[in-house]
Amino acid sequence: METNRKIVFIMLSGIFVFLCSCEAEEGPFVTELETIDVSYATDIQPIFTNRCIQCHDQNHPTGLDLREGNSYDLLVNITSSNYAPNLRIEPLSLENSVLWHKVIGDGVFGQQMPPVGDPLSNFDIEKIESWIELGAPDN
Ligand code: HEC
Repeated sequence: METNRKIVFIMLSGIFVFLCSCEAEEGPFVTELETIDVSYATDIQPIFTNRCIQCHDQNHPTGLDLREGNSYDLLVNITSSNYAPNLRIEPLSLENSVLWHKVIGDGVFGQQMPPVGDPLSNFDIEKIESWIELGAPDN
């Protein structure tokens, strides 16, 4: 009986390894962790334009103007006003980017953004994540 169990176990392991190798050969296996291709101008700025600029214009107390044409230079590698020494966006680091914590609303850097209305959709958050993980390009 004990030996039979071992044989069954070995066979199942074999099948598992076989299935895993098939998947690898089928090419990219898309998971939630994978970065998606994003452009600052066409994917990221529209999120700010739709959900952030009613507060984040030239008069915002933190100086963070998220309007088109101004936003990029005030975000990437710029020290946060309220949460220094962290940067608003640190390329390649979600963990150190103030904006990322604020849009997911984990409370690490104060309140969630936007503070009124619904939180950003998962798809918008995914775009911001991918953009940061791709090095926050001005593309
Ligand atoms: C209803 C007004 C309002 C809206 C809409 C809003 N914000 Fe804010 N935001 C604030 C206020 C007030 C602060 C300052 C308090 C704080 O840091 O939480 C702030 C602070 C921030 C900061 C920190 C700036 C710094 O240098 O410390 C970031 C980053 C930010 N907001 C991003 C966003 C993003 C991204 C959006 C849109 C998805 C957004 N905000 C929408 C009012 C708003």
